[in-house]
Amino acid sequence: MSAATPALGQPGSRPDSTEQVGTPAAEEVVPAPADRREPGDVLLEVRDLRVSIPTAAGPVHAADGVTLTLRQGEVLGVVGETGSGKSVTCRALLGLRPTPRTEVSGTVAYPGLGVDDITGLPPRRLRRLWGRHVAMIPQNPMTSLDPVRRIGDQVAEALGDTVHGAAARRERVIELLRQVGLPAPERRLDAFPHQFSGGMLQRTLIAIAIAQNPAMLVADEPTTALDVLIQDQILGLLLSLQRDLGTSLVLVSHDLSVVSQVCDRVAVMYAGQVVELADTATLLSSPRHPYTRALIGALPGAVARDEPLRVIPGAPPPLVGLGPTCRFAARCELHEAACDEWPTELLPVGAPAGSPSPFRPALRLVSHQSRCRRAPDLATADAAPPTTPKDQGEQR
Ligand SMILES: Nc1ncnc2c1ncn2[C@@H]1O[C@H](COP(=O)(O)OP(=O)(O)OP(=O)(O)O)[C@@H](O)[C@H]1O
Ligand code: SF4
Ligand SMILES: [Mg+2]
Repeated sequence: MSAATPALGQPGSRPDSTEQVGTPAAEEVVPAPADRREPGDVLLEVRDLRVSIPTAAGPVHAADGVTLTLRQGEVLGVVGETGSGKSVTCRALLGLRPTPRTEVSGTVAYPGLGVDDITGLPPRRLRRLWGRHVAMIPQNPMTSLDPVRRIGDQVAEALGDTVHGAAARRERVIELLRQVGLPAPERRLDAFPHQFSGGMLQRTLIAIAIAQNPAMLVADEPTTALDVLIQDQILGLLLSLQRDLGTSLVLVSHDLSVVSQVCDRVAVMYAGQVVELADTATLLSSPRHPYTRALIGALPGAVARDEPLRVIPGAPPPLVGLGPTCRFAARCELHEAACDEWPTELLPVGAPAGSPSPFRPALRLVSHQSRCRRAPDLATADAAPPTTPKDQGEQR
C-alpha cells in the first residue's frame, strides 16, 4: 500500500490493520439492491458495540456499549471532546479497527441492506460493502490520496465495475468531479494530489465516496483540516449531495454548533459511551445530561459578547479500567453520592418517539435517551447549563 491511506469507497482500499483480524462468518455479505431502500427505513442498527484496544496500560475501551440506529436519509451527528471515541466508533460501523489485536463485540447490522452483523467479517467480505453501500470521508484530505497516482485514476478506481468501457468511465469521473464542484474537471484528470488545494482534495475524496451512490456515508471531521471559508463550502456540498442522493450521513465533529445546524439527531459521546441521544431541537432546548448542558453552555453564542467563554472544568478520564458508574461524575456539578453507586445505562427520557425531524419531516425520530441518573430533574432544571466561566474553572 502507498504511504497514503485510500478513502474507503475505493475498491482497492483497505484498513492498515484489519486484514489479519476477524472470524470468517458463515454467510456472505449480499446487500440488497440500492433501489429497495426507502426513506425512513432503519438502515443501520448498532447494539452494545464495544471496541477494546490492547495497550501497555491495559485495554483502552474506546467504544463501550454504544447502541444507536440510523435511518435511510437521516443525518446523525456524533459530538464529543477529543478522545471520546468518535472515530473508533464510527470506523467500527464500517468494520474497521485501529489495530489488528483490537477486540470488537456487539452487533453492527445493516437491516436496510440485508446484512445481519459485520463485526466478525473479514476484510474480503467487508469490501463488498465498502464503496457500493457504505463509504467514509476521512478527516485529513492531504494524506488520504495516493500521492503518486493521478486524480482521474483514483476516482475511476472508486467506480469499481459499475461503469464499463474507458470512455464511459472517463465521462463518469468527470461527472462526479463536476458534481462535487471541482472547476474544469476534464482538465484535472491527469493532475497529482500535490497540485490540488486542501479543498479540492476534499472534494475529490467526496467524489470517491459517492462514486457508487452508497446508502451511508461516514464523514469523520471532514472539514477540520481546512480553512474556515472552505469548511462551510465543503459542509454545504456534503449536505446538498446527501439530500440529492438520499444518502444517510454520520457526521462526526467536535463542534456542536456545526452539528446542530445540519443534523436530524445528535449522539453525544463521552469517554467511550453515548451519554445522550436526541433529535437536534430537543437536545438543544432540553438537554438531559449535564455534559450536553455543559457543551451547549460552552458554545460561543451562549454568553454575552463581553462575558468570558464558558469551559467545562477538568478533563475526561483515561479509557482504561473504568467501572460501570458515571464517567462524567468528576466534572459534574449535579453529582451526588448516589451517582457513585448507580450503574449508568442509556435510558429513554422525555417526549415519546415518533415526532417528525425538523429537517426531513418524512423521518420519524426515535426517543430521547440519556445516561444521567438525574435526567428527570433536568426536565425542570434552570436552562443555564452547569459550566464554569473560563477564568474561574478548576477541576474538582
Ligand atoms: N491505535 C490506537 N492505539 C491505542 N489507543 C488508541 C488507538 N486509536 C485510538 N485510541 C484511543 O481510543 C480512544 C478514542 O479515540 P478516538 O480517536 O476514537 O477519539 P475521538 O473522539 O475521535 O477524538 P478526536 O476528536 O481527537 O478525533 C482514545 O483514548 C485514543 O487514545
Ligand atoms: S449520573 Fe450523577 S454524576 Fe453522572 S452526569 Fe448524572 S448527575 Fe452527574
Ligand atoms: Mg477522531
